Amino acid sequence: MKVAIDGPAGAGKSTIARRVAAALGYVYVDTGAMYRALTAEVLRRNMDPADATAVSELARSLNIQLDREAGGGTQRVWAADRDVTEEIREPVVNQNVSMVASHQGVRSAVVAQQKGMAAQGNVVMDGRDIGTTVMPNADVKVFLKASVTERARRRSLDLVRRGYSVNLAQLAEEIRERDMFDSTRRVSPLRRASDAVEIDTTHLTVEEVVDMVLLLCRNREAGE
Ligand code: DC
Repeated sequence: MKVAIDGPAGAGKSTIARRVAAALGYVYVDTGAMYRALTAEVLRRNMDPADATAVSELARSLNIQLDREAGGGTQRVWAADRDVTEEIREPVVNQNVSMVASHQGVRSAVVAQQKGMAAQGNVVMDGRDIGTTVMPNADVKVFLKASVTERARRRSLDLVRRGYSVNLAQLAEEIRERDMFDSTRRVSPLRRASDAVEIDTTHLTVEEVVDMVLLLCRNREAGE
């Protein structure tokens, strides 16, 4: 069974996807981590994230690996032979990843790899274009959303936990900008698949959302 979880930054995708994968014993694929790993490498090489030709060339040659453990746990992310698991969550990566992920050449290289992962078996994949482009035939498609204020609050908790000082208003502004950029880009924009179930997580707990997604999976298995 293939489960696609899409939505904007901070809607809860990775938390939910990881738990659903653990509950079902499926592999979890964090597709945002792949664009982030590429971005970390672009920055390390002092390349211009807006240079579509150079960044696409790097996307085709760079070996990005996710340590895909069944049943959850921390997923390690590798760019060539460098472990970039922590680095890809740094604010400088947040600020540049949308640009890197917007290039056609980057998307074809990364999506091809993701389609290969999807073909290997039971999988829960989260991202922006999973239900529309990477797994258009997914058995269960979920689109998570939440208010900008709530998403900024969640991001700030996450950043504070990791020792950064945060400005909530600025975080909300960055989220708005990233939404706009991701939704209006020409190639594979963030968009709800017409057959995806939309869940607004603003006032729901993680457990409630996980239970809703698991119910969708069970219903699907039962052939409903
Ligand atoms: O989910 P995330 O915040 O880790 O994603 C980081 C960026 O990568 C996000 O700004 C949009 C992009 N992305 C994408 O374009 N397509 C995906 N399937 C996943 C992420």
